[in-house]
Amino acid sequence: MVIDTWLHIRERKNPIVNRLIWIYIVALAIFHFVGTGVWGFIQTLPPINYYTHGSQINVSHGHMAFFGAYAILNLTIFYFAMPKFRNIREYDATLGLWGFWTMVGSMFFLGLVFGIAGILQVYLERMLDIGYSTAHQAMMFWFKAALFFGVIFLAGAATTVYHLFTLKSAAETT
Ligand code: HEM
Repeated sequence: MVIDTWLHIRERKNPIVNRLIWIYIVALAIFHFVGTGVWGFIQTLPPINYYTHGSQINVSHGHMAFFGAYAILNLTIFYFAMPKFRNIREYDATLGLWGFWTMVGSMFFLGLVFGIAGILQVYLERMLDIGYSTAHQAMMFWFKAALFFGVIFLAGAATTVYHLFTLKSAAETT
């Protein structure tokens, strides 16, 4: 999927009018590949799943995979369709880029902090045999970090939705 996207972009015949949608397509391929293909697959392997089943490592994969496979896909379709509905050829993408990078950056860190919490959880619960609630006390810092990045993600999502519903022609804004 990553290679196919790269070849499509490299060998395209049409000029890129709205760069934002292409940025979304590249992010779709990368997040899908990392969150689903790599992160999901690793946990499928029995010697790894023996330790990681039902841990925050699954949560890390679930967030990255869902965002990569479905959320970005839907946003790509919206950014393709919305200008056509509103009869806009080229739109001002500044706010959309802010929304994009805020969402992508915070989702990356969400995946990271859930992953770290998961590794800690596997070590405490499954290797040291510490109980679920006691182990969770040691993971609180990472849950607070996840809440922090979750709020940032929400801001990015709100910015993106606002931009999508208020798309303006690039000609109008210059
Ligand atoms: C559309 C793509 C996918 C989505 C949206 C998705 C989403 C999820 C979600 C929400 C969970 C549960 C997380 C939790 O327990 O909190 C999960 C678990 C899991 N997924 Fe995926 N996933 C996707 C693709 C894949 C793929 C391609 C693989 C393997 C190659 C995979 C392997 C796993 C494994 C091993 C678990 C953990 C099972 C366990 O031990 O509890 N996933 N996934």
